Amino acid sequence: MKRIFTNETPSHKGEKVKIAGWIDGRRDHGKITFIDLRDKEGVAQCVSTPQQAETYKTAQALRSEWVVEIEGTVQERPQAMKNPAIATGEIEIAAEKIVIFSQAKTLPFTIDTNGYDLNEEKRLQYRYLDLRRKRLKENLTKRHTVFGFVREFLSNEGFIEIETPLLTKSTPEGARDFVVPSRLYAGKFYALPQSPQQYKQLLQVAGFERYFQFARCLRDEDPRADRQPEFTQLDLEMSFVEREDVMELNEQLLIALVKKLYPKKEIQEIPFPQLLYKDVIQKYGTDRPDLRKDKNNPDLLAFCWVIDFPFFEKDKETNGWTFTHNPFSAPKPEYMNDLMAKRNIAEILTSQYDVVLNGMEIGGGSIRNHQPEALEQVFEIMGYEKERIQANFGHMLEAFSYGAPPHGGIAWGFDRLMSLLQSEQSIREVIAFPKTGDSRDLLMQSPSEISEQQLKELHLKIETKSQKKS
Ligand code: AMO
Repeated sequence: MKRIFTNETPSHKGEKVKIAGWIDGRRDHGKITFIDLRDKEGVAQCVSTPQQAETYKTAQALRSEWVVEIEGTVQERPQAMKNPAIATGEIEIAAEKIVIFSQAKTLPFTIDTNGYDLNEEKRLQYRYLDLRRKRLKENLTKRHTVFGFVREFLSNEGFIEIETPLLTKSTPEGARDFVVPSRLYAGKFYALPQSPQQYKQLLQVAGFERYFQFARCLRDEDPRADRQPEFTQLDLEMSFVEREDVMELNEQLLIALVKKLYPKKEIQEIPFPQLLYKDVIQKYGTDRPDLRKDKNNPDLLAFCWVIDFPFFEKDKETNGWTFTHNPFSAPKPEYMNDLMAKRNIAEILTSQYDVVLNGMEIGGGSIRNHQPEALEQVFEIMGYEKERIQANFGHMLEAFSYGAPPHGGIAWGFDRLMSLLQSEQSIREVIAFPKTGDSRDLLMQSPSEISEQQLKELHLKIETKSQKKS
């Protein structure tokens, strides 16, 4: 017999079925044993009585979280036993055969609660058990549904999904790079991408015009509740567009997504308000204002755009100019002459747009400098020497010299968006295997040492503190 899922059992009344999963609980009531069996779809109640002596004996031996397969007949529950709160609450399965696949030790914590009160380190150490929790199952299942919705929406808009490399080159993008030593090229390193920024722009030069990707991004920065060293972006880029085109498309996508998949949530204002950086700073003291009119309502979504950021700011350490967002951004068109003349630098505004939701920056993007001279000018303002510009960005400048379309894009912090949509406090709650607040993977025990042999192959030597001093 083919195994079915628990949620399918109600449509098989009077029939024999086979289900499989984990023992969610077992209760003995005199001469009857109730077993709740849990699979990925939910829970179904099975009953066993001494009439089936062998099965009854097995049923009584079962313990929580053992993995079993149960065959039996689906029958209507006595009226008083019906439970309208669960999908299978009208029926039960009279067990005729039970096969035990595996037994289970006592779990290190309960999994039948939402888990918020448990020690998070323990939860992460045993994440595969923590993920048996209904809340986390729902978070990851919804994440999958949102992925699917976004893919379909963007495909219908003519975007195609293209993967870009994970082993790439270290370039300044704002955060610290994670680097990977090369075995074949002694003393050389790959870098893991902070974002697919350069590749997605190169795809525009290649003529794809509309690209997207659910991209893994890696940044060696101090994690916080809304940050992980490894996170996911919905990354997209479009050719022949202006700032308003990218904003409009993303706004439509966010609205459609909320309406379809989160119908209980209310978007406070449509179209999303567009606020100027200088105004939000003045009014709210932050560039990611929480505009919710009622902060107690967990279903209220207050989106807004923040625009017109300054392009450059003074680096506090060097006192030279540095970019505020993204070195590849173009200035707003009316400031292009100033950029080219390196004039009024503090006043130049960038085409950058950030999308903010309930006080959290959930995305950001810009129109890019597709003219190599303009991009070069940005690096010169930041004080980069010609050689350094060539070494770091020569490939981009050269690419733009072979016919580059005007282009722009955005990236959403997908984990952040999911945490807000799922009303979670931390992005760790919507990631299957997150790192701790201090960047450790407690489940795998990483980071960890590697063998002498590996170090040798990678041409690396570990210098301990005491060796360093001498
Ligand atoms: P940016 O660096 O602003 O832009 O990143 C885009 C969005 O990604 C989210 N984010 C993070 N989420 C979790 N953990 C982190 N450590 C983390 N860092 C950033 C934020 C942020 O808004 N290439 C540009 C995008 C572009 O211009 O198209 C970029 O990466 O929600």
